[in-house]
Amino acid sequence: MSEESQPQSETKPNTGFAPGWYVVAASRDVESKPKPFLLNGLPLVTFRDSTGQSVALLDRCAHRNAPLSAGRVIDGNIRCHYHGWEFDGAGTCKAVPGLCGEPDHPGRRVPSFACCDSQGWLWVYSEADVTPYREPYAIPCADQPGYLTIRERLEMPGPLDAVAENALDVPHTAFVHAGLFRKNKGRKPIDVVIRSVDDGVEAQFIGEERPEGVAGRILAPQGGEVFHWDRFILPCIAQVEYRLSDRSHIIATTALTPRTQTVTDMFATVAVKAPIPDLILRTVFRPVAMRILRQDMEILRRQTEQVARFGAEDFASTEIDVLGLRIKKLLREAASGRASSRQDERQIKMLV
Ligand code: FES
Ligand SMILES: [Fe+2]
Repeated sequence: MSEESQPQSETKPNTGFAPGWYVVAASRDVESKPKPFLLNGLPLVTFRDSTGQSVALLDRCAHRNAPLSAGRVIDGNIRCHYHGWEFDGAGTCKAVPGLCGEPDHPGRRVPSFACCDSQGWLWVYSEADVTPYREPYAIPCADQPGYLTIRERLEMPGPLDAVAENALDVPHTAFVHAGLFRKNKGRKPIDVVIRSVDDGVEAQFIGEERPEGVAGRILAPQGGEVFHWDRFILPCIAQVEYRLSDRSHIIATTALTPRTQTVTDMFATVAVKAPIPDLILRTVFRPVAMRILRQDMEILRRQTEQVARFGAEDFASTEIDVLGLRIKKLLREAASGRASSRQDERQIKMLV
């Protein structure tokens, strides 16, 4: 089998990977036990040191490259299970059992990655041995009074840009989510303003009526005009915001982490304010949201399989594919170290 005709490796990294903070786990899932994960194909391990601070290292022992994640955390250091070398959260070698002399040596270091807990998630900076100049993205409305906050982790098929486009794409909703969201009949024209924002792009939908499907009825039983924004913010945030009357507000922020070229982890934080009790909201809203996400997973799985089957993407687009190409461009520019200085705004019409 030639290399081209082989299926894409699960561990192949993405090209077009933008440096920055990525969510790799729910904070509550990271304990003193080592937890392995892949960030863009790179095996890393996270654990908590003796102070409870989360740390992340390359998951490769400096000695004979055994996976550190198979070892144990002893007094806040990770101990390799092969010959017992120990490393602290900064990757410094703290013990070489049997060695008469100092264990610490520059050649025995394991690369470390900046790591922190924020808003219920564990964030890791994608580049080794650097101190990031900014904090991870601050998720709006999460855990604020009046908002029910739901966190969910999902494994989505596809590269980050395809998963982000899907999360922010309006035209598919009448088909993939028919009945739950929008319908493919009785369409009305709306305006869409697409503008650059700090580190990203935003689409604002103007003149949309409350969707007739279940999701719309839960959030705004009284109907009315919808205020809707979709945003992509580098390197990994896809965000959908709806305001339906002044009593209903939903802001779904997904942090997308490429595990490999064909699998993206989605860490979703949904903050909802609606004129119904939390318990009902949780009981009704969560299953509907999960159903929508499973439908997206299925179409993304098919799309990913198709791209693999044909060997490459070959996409045609129109102006109503408002964010997909822009997301790809932002990622490409960020990956190559070119910060986008583009500040623009354009308006289109769309039938929804
Ligand atoms: S491979 Fe880790 S201690 Fe030898
Ligand atoms: Fe969808």
